[in-house]
Amino acid sequence: VSTVGAAGATGLAVGATGGAVAQAAARDDRKAPKPVTSVGSTRVPFHGKHQAGITTPLQAFGHLLAFDLVSGAGRKQAAALLKRWSRTARELMADESTANSTGIALDAGPCSLSVTFGFGRTFFSRTGLEKQRPDGLAPLPDFSGDALDKKRSDGDLWVQIGCDDGLVAFDALREIQRQAAGTARLRWQMNGFTRTPGATRRPMTVRNLMGQVDGTNNPKPSEPDFDGRIFVPSSSKPSWMANGSFAVVRRIRMLLDDWDKIPLKEQERVIGRRKSDGAPLSGGTEHTDPDLEKRSTGGSPAIPADAHVRVSAPATNGGAAMLRRPFSYHDGFRDDGAPDAGLLFIAWQADPLRGFVPVQRKLDRGDALSRYVRHEASGLFAVPGGPSKGEYVGQALLE
Ligand code: HEM
Repeated sequence: VSTVGAAGATGLAVGATGGAVAQAAARDDRKAPKPVTSVGSTRVPFHGKHQAGITTPLQAFGHLLAFDLVSGAGRKQAAALLKRWSRTARELMADESTANSTGIALDAGPCSLSVTFGFGRTFFSRTGLEKQRPDGLAPLPDFSGDALDKKRSDGDLWVQIGCDDGLVAFDALREIQRQAAGTARLRWQMNGFTRTPGATRRPMTVRNLMGQVDGTNNPKPSEPDFDGRIFVPSSSKPSWMANGSFAVVRRIRMLLDDWDKIPLKEQERVIGRRKSDGAPLSGGTEHTDPDLEKRSTGGSPAIPADAHVRVSAPATNGGAAMLRRPFSYHDGFRDDGAPDAGLLFIAWQADPLRGFVPVQRKLDRGDALSRYVRHEASGLFAVPGGPSKGEYVGQALLE
């Protein structure tokens, strides 16, 4: 049975069966995670107004891949590749076997697999489609704190894979990479993770590798201005981007050794929220709106002037907003012994100039968190709307 768009990363327990599992569930143990039986069968639809992987609940594993077209490959070859990739994504997300199946995922269900495709700025010059390049793909400005590795930045094509099972995720990654052969070459790959469904007793906002509850004040699809903030309107030009979105991808390393040395109270002032439960320092619980006006008894702002949530909030940025859907990453340890770990920050918005760019400009100037992070790679991709039945992703651009 497929439970379309159900539990997701937060892992609601559905229909637990089996003696041991039932016993565990019955135990009144506050720490015990609820058993989850819907993880394998949860299916994310491939077709729809928007591509999957944007408002889809965050999965436990993520792979980000960027490809460059090989010399000699142009619009025709790119169209054929997007057709192959779309067919594969549709089949794997529906858990239908593909002709070239690697066998890696044979025993598993779709596990909330989503595959999302985007186009980088350079794609349009390589394929003679400059006239179709959306204004939103204007290069991101340089920020003073950037330490970007060009080899791990940008790219003609971008693929985001999200999945609640590591093997199913790798199977999709392998198929996508194999099908690019002869048309596009892998430019960079980054692997991320978040929480496993069912790891917490009830659905909760995930934590990042600094230990903070991260994602609380994201725009919500139920809000009236959500679509306008996150998705390109259907009336916009170029028309192939209707219902699409722009993904800003930043690999942000956390200086965890420095972070771990500062006391808890200081860590909380850097963000403006309590570490234990994510509640704003102005009071209340996790989902209480931060009160940026509130003063503590000494007269200083309860949420400090340089706290991350104050500097990044839409209220202090002329309404600029984005949907943050990041994965954590850990790639071992650097030569200096520090963890090569942090956030694969992915921000979705209808227009980067009304989302990421103004906010990052401000964070770059005066965010307390900046002292503990380094932006080491960057990409900006135009992600077209979702395909209708029988269509492939990007068809309106490529045909
Ligand atoms: C909020 C962490 C980078 C934009 C938050 C929160 C945390 C956090 C813990 C509070 C909870 C929440 O509402 O999600 C981090 C970390 C980062 C990082 C660890 C880097 C490693 C960025 C960047 C941007 C950004 C690069 C955008 C340019 C935001 C926004 C909010 C937020 C818009 C919500 C503010 C509000 O309206 O309350 N971040 N963040 N963050 N962050 Fe970040």
